Amino acid sequence: MNIVVGVTGGIAAYKTVTIVRLLTKAGHDVTVVPTDDALRFVGLPTWEAISRNAVTTSVHDDVARVRHVALGQNADLIIVAPATANTIAAMAAGLASDLLGTTLLATEAPVVIAPAMHAEMWRHPATQANIATLRSRGVHIVGPDDGELAGGDSGPGRMSEPEHIVEQALAVRAEPDLQGLRVAVSAGGTREPIDPVRYLGNRSSGKQGTALAVAAAERGADVVLVAANIDAATLHDATAHPKIRIVTSGTAAELGEAMGAAAADAHVVIMAAAVADYRPAEVSTRKITKEGGETPVITLVQNPDIVAGLAERRSEGTAPRGQTIVAFAAETPQTPEEMIERARRKRERKNVDLLVVNEVGWSKGFETTDNAAHIIGDAGAVVGTVDGTKREVADAVWNAVVRYRRGQQAGSHDQHPDAADTTATTRQPGGSGAPRQLRRHRWRG
Ligand code: CTP
Repeated sequence: MNIVVGVTGGIAAYKTVTIVRLLTKAGHDVTVVPTDDALRFVGLPTWEAISRNAVTTSVHDDVARVRHVALGQNADLIIVAPATANTIAAMAAGLASDLLGTTLLATEAPVVIAPAMHAEMWRHPATQANIATLRSRGVHIVGPDDGELAGGDSGPGRMSEPEHIVEQALAVRAEPDLQGLRVAVSAGGTREPIDPVRYLGNRSSGKQGTALAVAAAERGADVVLVAANIDAATLHDATAHPKIRIVTSGTAAELGEAMGAAAADAHVVIMAAAVADYRPAEVSTRKITKEGGETPVITLVQNPDIVAGLAERRSEGTAPRGQTIVAFAAETPQTPEEMIERARRKRERKNVDLLVVNEVGWSKGFETTDNAAHIIGDAGAVVGTVDGTKREVADAVWNAVVRYRRGQQAGSHDQHPDAADTTATTRQPGGSGAPRQLRRHRWRG
């Protein structure tokens, strides 16, 4: 994609260097348009070196190629980070007083801004009215975050982290290749009660499962997210998304029931939740105390395997025909080969189409923002490997699902499943131009 990154005069400009680096690393052609003020924080040579493109602030440079409008006309996406209160006001008023102003007025591309300013300036009615104006024109606002600000203050006004801005900005351009699909995703970790105050649990934060749900919704799917013990901050983006319905669950039994209901009409089921394999055979109705003098012994019984049960329903023909089922596995292997081997066996044992395996450890996999995973396909081959943010892992999993379903549908034209289905278009994260027309495919019969 051709991406213009506008940089305005705030201390957060140093973080925009990372934004440009992430975008160029992902293969995008980035042109930086700093304001004169921005250059007081980060100099022109830095922007040129990091973007590998010429940088200018003046509308009078490159006049022969009408640079002041050409940049906006040719852009697939514009990101303004940091966006100061002054820039936000200028954008709301439609001012074209510098190259960034003319670029923004000359574009039809989506615009994403990442505000950064002092908390008082952010809260000021003038800024809030300008933000509302920009929102009503379709500008996407990322942040600001709550946190420490320049000068030692704290409050809302801190520019969001570069990774988050890039993720959100690229999502704006994501193609709706899951449009028409209903998906059920489980996330988080179950808690099996011992008594009214204690439980057996695990360290799953729900970040990966929530990222899968948000990615699916942004790619057009209607999502049921069955969330087990996930905090509100992690669920924030999912809660805000109109295409996601959240069902909360606590124990493995509750999660199993909720997933059973959600999977009943889902085209795709993803079990990302960490489900307790065992639960206490008996749950004490009163708190277990030390007063009895004896150390309690907790007897465990095995929980049913939810994903294997859903796969069985499919084999019996009581699930929608053509349903795709994806399981996850968190492993602590001694070698990468051992991990892949275990994952292969687990995929077969559970009779699922794809299995996403990742390594976990004391400081790996859980509660982190990043993840590294392999995706095992139905012939046991590794069909995808990804190392990045949990959103990047989520997109890689959806890409694998899309490829898998296209393969299945190409090979089964004689079938006539009960429900109309939708084949997905090829997703090209680096593609440009308007989202392409979806190719809808109705089964014969
Ligand atoms: N899973 C499930 N129901 C359970 C346990 C696990 O649906 N009772 C699902 C998980 O959501 C995940 C997959 O099965 O998608 C793999 O979970 P994992 O705990 O790695 O597998 P186990 O069957 O517990 O295998 P093992 O104990 O041998 O690692």
